[in-house]
Amino acid sequence: MVGAHTDSPCLKVKPQPEMLRHSFWQLGVEVYGGALLNPWFDRDLSMAGRISYSDADDQLQHQLINFQQPIAIIPSLAIHLDREANQNRSINPQQHLPPVLLQAEEGGAPDFRGLLQQQFHREHGQTIIGKVLDYDIYFYDSQPAALVGINEDFIAAARLDNLLSCYIGLQALLAGSADTASLLVCTDHEEVGSVSASGAQSTFLPSVLQRLAGDNESYQRLLQHSQLISVDNAHGIHPNYADRHDAQHGPLLNKGPVIKTNANQRYATNSETSARFRQLCEQAKVPVQDFVVRSDMACGSTIGPITASLIGIKTIDIGVPTFAMHSIRELAGSQDTVHLYNVLTKFFN
Ligand code: CO
Repeated sequence: MVGAHTDSPCLKVKPQPEMLRHSFWQLGVEVYGGALLNPWFDRDLSMAGRISYSDADDQLQHQLINFQQPIAIIPSLAIHLDREANQNRSINPQQHLPPVLLQAEEGGAPDFRGLLQQQFHREHGQTIIGKVLDYDIYFYDSQPAALVGINEDFIAAARLDNLLSCYIGLQALLAGSADTASLLVCTDHEEVGSVSASGAQSTFLPSVLQRLAGDNESYQRLLQHSQLISVDNAHGIHPNYADRHDAQHGPLLNKGPVIKTNANQRYATNSETSARFRQLCEQAKVPVQDFVVRSDMACGSTIGPITASLIGIKTIDIGVPTFAMHSIRELAGSQDTVHLYNVLTKFFN
């Protein structure tokens, strides 16, 4: 089994978001997860998400929409108005983050739900009779992903944590042998603790596995014979901030997936599961690296320990090394995607 989380830190539109200030029409936003906020300024932002409305027969409908175009921006304050900006500018999310969408006169500003309705019509060619009742709409960077570097050594993109792992996990599952029982589980809400109906700490996975296995005895046997590779990106050692790593455990980009270990079980890896993974990498001719956080710093975590404790499955936490985790644009090594694909395919086979 391979597990990964799908969510990433971002800005979510509030339920009553409209603001008209100094002629600028803005939307109030909440920060989802542990976002690195500085990189959200001066970006060409777009919006996407889900809307819920009642149709002509008064039935509730839920549909996805995506504006795609850059329709909003959060401009920085000029350095001339804040000479200390490079030393100590801090961001107040309530005050400084509402993106600007347009300029309007008093009384001429649009209604946000009306705007969503228009966008739905543009995308789906259908008119919503009645009103958009509710929505989950998020801002995102409209700049597409790119291969970066003279030799295209890097991938720069939004949400690499953790869609990179979800995507490679899916490709490996599709390439895997049909003779082995394989499963890919992708869960939401890891960035906010995984406690939700669609998070890793929900009953979703145990319930699916129980129904696949049949009776309880078969379910227990299935789990004892299974292994979970929990895949989530790791922190590569950054040349400009190398002191943030233990020098012996600073993974390099493009040098293969990283085994994450933590004595306090922030990662589910133990010597049995890591030995098995190291062996798999050897068989797949994939280089492998180690990460342990500095002993004087707090360690992150992921869905590995949560899933391991929920269903009692042997688990390892791994992931490709990246930079700028939780920025609006993150960086990974282009070769590491191939390394990860090769070892996960080996695992599924
Ligand atoms: Co992650």
